[in-house]
Amino acid sequence: MPLVSMRQLLDEAAKGGYGVGAFNVNNMEQIQAIMEAARETQSPVIIQASRGARAYSQDKFLYHLMLAATELYPEIPTVLHLDHGNSVETCKSAIEMGFTSVMMDGSLMPDGKTPSSFEYNVDATRQVVEMAHAKGITVEGEIGCLGGIEDGHGAGLDGLSHLTDPVQAEEFVKLTGLDALAIAIGTSHGAYKFTSKPTGETLKMERLMEIHRRLPNVHLVMHGSSSVPKELQDVINQYGGKLKPTWGVPVEEIQLGIRNGVRKINVDTDNRLAITGAIRKVFMEKPEEFDPRSYMKPAREAMKKVVAQRMVQFGQAGHAGDYTPISMEEMAARYQPVAV
Ligand code: 13P
Repeated sequence: MPLVSMRQLLDEAAKGGYGVGAFNVNNMEQIQAIMEAARETQSPVIIQASRGARAYSQDKFLYHLMLAATELYPEIPTVLHLDHGNSVETCKSAIEMGFTSVMMDGSLMPDGKTPSSFEYNVDATRQVVEMAHAKGITVEGEIGCLGGIEDGHGAGLDGLSHLTDPVQAEEFVKLTGLDALAIAIGTSHGAYKFTSKPTGETLKMERLMEIHRRLPNVHLVMHGSSSVPKELQDVINQYGGKLKPTWGVPVEEIQLGIRNGVRKINVDTDNRLAITGAIRKVFMEKPEEFDPRSYMKPAREAMKKVVAQRMVQFGQAGHAGDYTPISMEEMAARYQPVAV
């Protein structure tokens, strides 16, 4: 099936009461790992590329790899999403490239670092909504600021500095007409999220529930949702790495989020850890090897394992067959205001 809109996937996920992992990619092996995990677990998938990934890969390569994915895995509903678009222009270029979903992160200014005003965020997001919906493309926005920095994007704050205000979130959705809303509830990008295991207190789950109560029909997005498992840290450190002890977001907290309106869960770091651990292992155990396939294959396999596990934990496993693809034209028509 062709690439589908993220809105279709999230609407379906809401009906089924499950979440869908959104996994970041930069190259072919990561796309293959995700698609193989999706086939194994029969899951719909969201594959996302950040600005950094688009620059690294030249996004035309990524786009064509994604088309190959739809040909080779025709039974898997697949979305290509822009992660953290920093400006209307960036979103426009992703739309022109063929992405079926974009994130306009107007919580930060276009420098991707400075927290913005509410008015700026509404204006930029609204412009992207108008442009994207005309083509049936989905829009994710963000209100509140996540912690950490990813691919140079982020205010570098801790996750608790700019939490989402539920009243403002409601206003933001009304003014922008977006499809999915990323909220800041204490998570941050990267491996170093928490210095001890977080509880329901550390993560502001009450706030998430309040946002869901106010916006029951909006698909909520949890960024910074890697669990940073100790086993993956240990592999890296066992084979010469130097990660400091750290904690991520426990899967049980994500599952609580899914029961309270979270439909998209962003995961990048866990896959990076799995890949790095597998490569380090080959380098240490077989120093005579120099064929990139000797370490890229185990790296791909290690990432596939993590992704498949998350697909089961988020509940999307077994749901690939629930979809009859809706064309982008049909999606665009659905966004048109009904004439009176
Ligand atoms: P992690 O760093 O926790 O994997 O988060 C990734 C993310 O939120 C991408 O937008």
